[in-house]
Amino acid sequence: MENVIEINNLSKEFKVLNRHEGIKGSIMDLFSRDYKTVYAVKDVSLSIKQGEIVGYLGPNGAGKSTTIKMMTGVLKPSSGSILVNGRVPYKDRAKNSQEIGVVFGQRSQLWWSLPLIESFKLLKEIYGIDSKHYDEMMKFYGTLVDLEPILHKPVRQMSLGQRTLSDILASFLHNPKICFLDEPTIGLDVAMKSNIRTLIHAINEKMNTTVILTTHDMGDVDALCKRIVIIDKGQMLYDNDIDHLRKFFGAYRTLKVRLKGDMSEKVKEVEKALEAMDVSVSSDDEWISVLVNEEKCGVLDVLSTIQKEHKVTDMQLQEISTEEVIKKIYTEGV
Ligand SMILES: Nc1ncnc2c1ncn2[C@@H]1O[C@H](COP(=O)(O)OP(=O)(O)O)[C@@H](O)[C@H]1O
Ligand SMILES: [Mg+2]
Repeated sequence: MENVIEINNLSKEFKVLNRHEGIKGSIMDLFSRDYKTVYAVKDVSLSIKQGEIVGYLGPNGAGKSTTIKMMTGVLKPSSGSILVNGRVPYKDRAKNSQEIGVVFGQRSQLWWSLPLIESFKLLKEIYGIDSKHYDEMMKFYGTLVDLEPILHKPVRQMSLGQRTLSDILASFLHNPKICFLDEPTIGLDVAMKSNIRTLIHAINEKMNTTVILTTHDMGDVDALCKRIVIIDKGQMLYDNDIDHLRKFFGAYRTLKVRLKGDMSEKVKEVEKALEAMDVSVSSDDEWISVLVNEEKCGVLDVLSTIQKEHKVTDMQLQEISTEEVIKKIYTEGV
């Protein structure tokens, strides 16, 4: 299979003003030439094949959007190389955009006051989409989404969900080889998130479009991504199958218990009781959760230790979630 994206030792640095504190500092900043260099992306290497859906994950400020901006040709790398469909994106921006689609969540690429259908017709002209393909895509979209309520509506009158849906449909219309979706489900309700996931999945399947998806929503990852790449502070922490990760953390289970009495008090006591056991304890209003590595200690040992001092009124046992797996990588590495 062909690599549609080839990234080698890619870095992007920004020069930012060194800010000084206080009122005096703010005045100093006005005249300051005191810059520091921050690496938004540092030494990232990555190759992606046609048809893959890759989850590009990391905490806020990790460098995800900066990477995407370099792949789309908006930003020029500071060092390293990047090829998208065999081209250098920032040098060949016009040709590159013919073969990619881009959606930045909460920032529509569509014509604000035009009905969606008019935006589609403009895109047809701009990308030189032939009528046969255009009609086919519209028909295909019609099988995936109820187009009726959005097609004749100006984008500015749409709900966030409808707008996101429209943006995604628009970004795939010219049959790009790659589509970059930067936080497409941000701010959406559960039902709309599910619609969007179904849509992305169906288009990827039919058109074999490569999808690079950044998200904070582990539901998106679970529903769509076979492979995940994790970055933090600009640097790559992980690149592999999500199944590989789950296997790696396969010995982890979460034991959830409900105790009699005031739960917020109980958490500290449970933490103390389990101090010697190398587990991590967290809680919400309802449950105290204990993440257990069964290679180190048994869930039943943990449970009986808790029961020595507390009355357990309810319990659950869960496999480790994708979210917990990724949190562990952020904090401990692989
Ligand atoms: N134009 C810019 N000028 C200065 N710093 C920037 C610029 N764009 C991004 N950064 C910094 O680079 C880092 C990565 O940002 P970004 O790629 O937006 O992260 P993410 O999308 O993962 O949240 C952050 O520390 C951010 O403040
Ligand atoms: Mg971002």
